[in-house]
Amino acid sequence: MLSQEDNELLCRVGPGTPMGAFMREYWLPAFMASELPEPDSDPMRLRLLGENLIAFRSTSGKFGLIANNCPHRGASLFFGRNEEEGLRCVYHGWKFDVAGNCVDMPNEPAESDFKQKVRAVAYPCQERNGIVWAYMGSRSEPPPLPEWLPNLEPNCQVWMRLQESNWLQALEGDIDTVHAFFLHGGHQQTKDALRGSDAYYITQQRHGKFVAQEHAVGASYAAVRDAEPGTEYWRMGHFLMPFYTMNAPGLLGIKNQSLAWVPLDDYNTMVWTVGRQAPLAPETETVGGFKAGYVRRDPLGKYDPYGGRNADGVPVRKFEHTTDWLGRFRPIANQHNDYLIDRDLQRTMGTYSGIPQIAQDAMAQESMGPIYDRTQERLGTSDVMIIRTRRKLLDCVRAHARGAVPPGVDNPELYRMRSGGVIVERGINGLDAMADLLFDRVPLAEFRERWEAVAR
Ligand code: FES
Ligand SMILES: [Fe+2]
Repeated sequence: MLSQEDNELLCRVGPGTPMGAFMREYWLPAFMASELPEPDSDPMRLRLLGENLIAFRSTSGKFGLIANNCPHRGASLFFGRNEEEGLRCVYHGWKFDVAGNCVDMPNEPAESDFKQKVRAVAYPCQERNGIVWAYMGSRSEPPPLPEWLPNLEPNCQVWMRLQESNWLQALEGDIDTVHAFFLHGGHQQTKDALRGSDAYYITQQRHGKFVAQEHAVGASYAAVRDAEPGTEYWRMGHFLMPFYTMNAPGLLGIKNQSLAWVPLDDYNTMVWTVGRQAPLAPETETVGGFKAGYVRRDPLGKYDPYGGRNADGVPVRKFEHTTDWLGRFRPIANQHNDYLIDRDLQRTMGTYSGIPQIAQDAMAQESMGPIYDRTQERLGTSDVMIIRTRRKLLDCVRAHARGAVPPGVDNPELYRMRSGGVIVERGINGLDAMADLLFDRVPLAEFRERWEAVAR
């Protein structure tokens, strides 16, 4: 439970808000390079932290992010001409480069120096492996990009979806690890799961013991459940400032995937899932013999998150795109059509919710309301990580308002983290014992060798 005041402090991200100022000190994943596929391609509306911006790609291929309203008399630069290294407003022809300089003002006399005095608000952009990052903060020289592991891989995989809720309740869904085997897997049973996998242990014990502890740029959590006699399955993940999660499914030491919950405004969030999602061979395992082996009995088709066809082999559309401010990666199953819920499927336990997988989290978090009123909630023992994360965020936002540099801004190496599960002997704190893997200090093979040598 939070006071109304703290809830507002955490959720509001527009210009002038404390959380908005805090987030602006970090680089933000803004859009994919492929959304602006070539030099001088169509400009794109992009809302970020409550600001309406226009993204464009110049003739030489540079990315620009500029305020929507032309500095002259406010016409939208979305309708501008993207030509010869700049975006030209079609109302009176003023033209701006990617840095926001006014480089042409054809409706003023040639001898006028007025254009030197005019600048558009423009934010620096930097591309890395297909993601275009933007810096909207106060420094004239932006900090380094975070060494966010999944984005350090060439050709890193990226999925995006729009969620129509405040960023924090969306993010909280991903550090709320206990929901997975209700909302997503409530229909799964032990008999269908591979022994040694998460589904095998969790379907036997849907509750668990929950642990959370802080690290330099956020907090880590684990859900702990019985595994084989004398051992426990530790399912571990992280929150990283200001809006990243590394969730707990998968194999620690192998998985390299993370999510970013980037606020478009107070009521809409772009959910980025970045990193490797390569299918693993069923017997692939990590520390303690923990295996991949997620058994999916969900009917294919519209219930399959990323698959492309329904049961009749017809390609399924997952998203619709418009040029609107909130028109990118809007799932077809959304709150305006009850997420295409299939009550028969729900009733017969075809899936637990009857809602397509891609929309299950959105259903839970959007149905809380655009900004959830946290004065009303009743938190239990499984919510310990949510409590820890909010406390850390509140502390850091308040410290920033007093002048402190937000954690991680000048320490990009702190983003080298990984998440996932292992099996360890009962009585061992998995978060401490696996620190070398969680903080990506040692490759898995080397770690396992050391670990197993100690066990022998
Ligand atoms: S409003 Fe853009 S040039 Fe006049
Ligand atoms: Fe989920």
